[in-house]
This record gives sequence, structure tokens and C-alpha cells, in this order.
Amino acid sequence: MEWQKIYEERKMSAEEAIKLIHSGDRVVLGHAVGVPIAITDVLADHKDDYENVEIVQMVSMGNARFAEPDMEGHFRLNSLFLGGHTKAAVKEGRGDFTPCCFSEVPQLLEETLPIDVAIIQVSAPDKNGYVSCGVSVDYTLPAARSAKKVIAQVNKQMPRTLGDTALHVAEIDSFVEIDHPVIELGLPKIGDVEKAIGENCAKLVKDGDTLQLGIGAIPDAVLLFLKEKKDLGIHSEMISDGVVELIESGVITNAKKTLHPGKTVVTFLMGTQRLYDYADDNQAVAMYPVDYVNDPYVVGQNDNLVSINSCVQVDLMGQVASESVGLTQISGIGGQVDFIRGARLSKGGRSIIAIASTAAKGKISKIVPFLDEGAAVTTSRTDVDYVVTEYGIAKLRGRTLRDRARSLIEIAHPDFRPGLVQEFEDRFHCKY
Ligand code: COA
Repeated sequence: MEWQKIYEERKMSAEEAIKLIHSGDRVVLGHAVGVPIAITDVLADHKDDYENVEIVQMVSMGNARFAEPDMEGHFRLNSLFLGGHTKAAVKEGRGDFTPCCFSEVPQLLEETLPIDVAIIQVSAPDKNGYVSCGVSVDYTLPAARSAKKVIAQVNKQMPRTLGDTALHVAEIDSFVEIDHPVIELGLPKIGDVEKAIGENCAKLVKDGDTLQLGIGAIPDAVLLFLKEKKDLGIHSEMISDGVVELIESGVITNAKKTLHPGKTVVTFLMGTQRLYDYADDNQAVAMYPVDYVNDPYVVGQNDNLVSINSCVQVDLMGQVASESVGLTQISGIGGQVDFIRGARLSKGGRSIIAIASTAAKGKISKIVPFLDEGAAVTTSRTDVDYVVTEYGIAKLRGRTLRDRARSLIEIAHPDFRPGLVQEFEDRFHCKY
């Protein structure tokens, strides 16, 4: 059958499309700014038609109504990465968190948490009947391939990204058309502390390196200090607007990459319309599912891979807590461990945990003798490499416990150094 006929036959309203979902189903939602919000809103409006539907998602942008208190009994969140709209649901016992590395999510959704219905957002079909997963390929494309049923929000404004991003209309059970800008993430505020961290991180970046950058003010601050570098490359779980600026100014050329030379490789995008316009139909941006992009073995095939991520606390042994404050889960593992391990496999690779030395407006040190009770260790002391604050760079990998503690104290906020020094002297039975 011609693809146009399939598409027309399966085109319907969101109200009709959600009839594919039944009580007790496990439903996966498209990721981050790819969340199919026009459909999830209608689903929330019809909550009384559903009981015990499990909603699986990683980063949830948009309103996440399915995680609100009045959804209890109808929808239950199983989050793989918490954030603004979803952390309260888990904290208040109305939702669950499943720890996992981003790279393993497609396999989990196929084998351990098989999906009844995937609700995704895609571009309009091309002339051959293929839609693109656009800004979020990550687990979204693999989940659509393994789910029993697929509902697609077809957004005329979703960029058509290239790489391995496409589904044929025949692989999708229902289409709900919308014409709406993709959710934008505002530019972060970069203050003096972030600038100092960025400058220190940039000292560890050499011409020709390939970078993975997380999200937020610190990664964007790092980019500010890379303007004099040459031939940088990108192999990252995500990129934001700052990367586009360095591509357009000729700093990022991807020319020296040992895997996918010439291409910016990512699994999802999160930024402003400028980023989405840049990625649209652009052969220079290669997007693949996350079980490829974040696979430490694949990451490690990039020589000189530098990963830059952040955390909540680092203890004096170098254990890194990135996803919880004590027992309270605030985010997730994401790609942090994937890229730290990938950087280790990379010839010439380096991994950086970049943090402000304090939290809570200077009241709390992020470098601590012990992690808060109940905190999860995201990156173990055997995987950690560099820790960077606004006060300097601590190299931990291959160093003794005593040397690690000493160099972490050197980059802690001066207000907290005396307490840390006391702990050092008690622990190691020697003068600091
Ligand atoms: N003690 C108590 N609270 C702390 C804290 C500490 N040591 N460190 C941070 N917090 C609080 C902040 O006050 C803030 O609280 P609020 O939301 O109520 O304002 C919250 O935790 C988030 O901290 P902040 O520093 O604003 O977050 P961020 O946007 O810079 O993100 C991480 C930092 C660690 C949460 C984030 O980088 C992350 O989730 N990392 C793990 C996943 C990862 O690395 N993925 C790979 C790249 S995408």
C-alpha cells in the first residue's frame, strides 16, 4: 500500500489515539523536549478511563501532568531520570525511580520493561514516507521499534534530523497532527563561579579533542573558554546552543575525530529554536539511538575524548554523588557513567566532574568528608578522573586516598577547608 494511504487511514484525533492504551499497560513517552505533550495532556484529561497505567520516561519537559497528585491510581510514574516536574512524585511516594545508565535504556525497554504503547513525537513524513524522531532519538526510536503499539504526535515544526532517526509510517499505529514549536530550553545564567569553573575545565581541553558536555550553566561556561581552540569534535549524549556557536565560528570542525570524522554525533538535542533550526536536515549532525552513542565501547573509539559532567557531592575518597541529596532522588545517572567509562577506554581520554565548590548560596560544601547518609554513588572512586571547581583542578585517578583528599581540599571553598583539613589529619594520622 502507498505510504500516503497508510498515513491517511491512521490519522486521528488524540482522543481516538489514546484508545490504544488500556488499564494496566506500560506506556513509554518520548524523551526531554521530544515529549508528545498534546497527547499526554489529553491522556491526563481522560484519567478516569484508566487504572494503573505505568508511565516510563527519562527527562520530562513540559508539564508532566501524569505525575501530579490527582493522577494517583490512574497513572504511576516510573522515571529513569527525575527533574523539575517529576521529582516531587517520587519524593511523595506517588512515583518510582529506576536506576540505570542511559546507554542501557533501549535494552531495558525491550527485555525487562517491555512496552505496550510508545507515545512519541516525530516530524512530518518525507517523500518516501519516513518520519524523523527529530530532537530525541535516544531511547525514543528504539522504544518505538520494540513497543506493541506506537502513537505518534506528528509536529510540522519538528526538525528532520539525520543519522539513524527515522521510522516508516507503516511502523506507526496512529498519527496525531499538530503544528507547534518544539519546547525550548532557555539559555542558562552564567555567573562568575561558572566562568571560573569553565576556565579551569578548558585548561584540560587540547586542540583536536572530542567533547561530551552535559547540560546547564557549567558546560556552557566551558564553551566560552574554548574559543581559541582548534579542530574540536563532538560525540555527546546531547548538545545545546553553545555548541552551535562554536561550530559556526570554526572552533568545532570534527576534523580530527577518529570515529565519524566530520560529524557532530549526539542522541538528543535540548536548546532554543536556533539549535533545532541548525540540526534540521543537516548532514553534519548525526543522531543515533542512545545504545550506540552512549555505549562506552563506542565512546572510547574516539581518541582524546573529554567528558564534562556535574554532581551534587564528592567525598574525600573521590566518590561522586550526582543524582541524590541524601536519600532524596533529584535527577538520575543519565550518561555520566557511560561517558566516564568511555573516556577511560579512549586513547588520550579524560573525564571531568565540574562543580561549584558550594551549594545553597555558599552554605554547604560540595566537597565533603562523607557523602550524605543515603546518597547514591553515581561515579565510583575507581572511575573518577578529574574534579574541577572554581578554585582549581584535582586529578584523582591513580592517586592514593591521601593524595586524593589533599588535592580535593585544595579546590574546596576556603570557608570549608579548615574542617576538611581536620578530617584529613584525623583520618590519615598525619599533618595536612
Ligand atoms: N547539598 C544539598 N543540595 C544540593 C547540593 C548539595 N551538595 N548540591 C546541589 N544541591 C541542590 C541545589 O541546591 C538544587 O536545589 P533546587 O533545585 O531546590 O534549587 C539542586 O540540588 C540541583 O542543583 P544545581 O546545582 O542547581 O543543579 P544543576 O542544574 O547544576 O545540575 C546535577 C547538577 C548534578 C543535578 C546534574 O548535573 C545531574 O543530574 N547530573 C547527573 C547526570 C549527568 O551527569 N548526566 C550527563 C549529562 S546530561
